[in-house]
Amino acid sequence: MSKETILNDYTFLVSETDEKGIIRFANDDFCQIAGYTLEEMIGKPHNLVRHPDMPKAAFKDLWDTVKKGQVWTGYVKNATKLGGYYWVYATVYPFESCDGSKGYISCRRKASREEIEKYETLYRQLKAKE
Ligand SMILES: Cc1cc2nc3c(=O)[nH]c(=O)nc-3n(C[C@H](O)[C@H](O)[C@H](O)COP(=O)(O)O)c2cc1C
Repeated sequence: MSKETILNDYTFLVSETDEKGIIRFANDDFCQIAGYTLEEMIGKPHNLVRHPDMPKAAFKDLWDTVKKGQVWTGYVKNATKLGGYYWVYATVYPFESCDGSKGYISCRRKASREEIEKYETLYRQLKAKE
């Protein structure tokens, strides 16, 4: 069993990507929890932190939603550099920078134990159908 990192109530993980999901920025909380330095994150595709338990349908829903210009919210299990994992409740926003370039921002906070249990079960069922 790999190790779970439990977020504290004030941990707030932020990342920004370009239109293709390449990381342009990650805040200190995100770097610290995921176990990467900022330099290791910048320029990498966001699936850097993808956990194999996550069903494809969750990310399809995320991308379909934000590409329409809408805000996506959902529960995500992410992998850490050292092979552990952590759960978050994520909100992903489409936005336009002052230079006119489009991108996305994700803000994540702690998910409750009940929410985690619910989504562990749901995602396991979705994974089984892949
Ligand atoms: C702003 C933003 C934040 C994202 N955050 C995550 C994340 O924390 N974890 C993750 O696995 N995928 C995240 N994604 C989705 C990834 O881009 C990717 O679609 C996903 O990891 C699935 O990888 P795959 O397309 O290689 O299967 C994010 C995408 C965007 C636009």
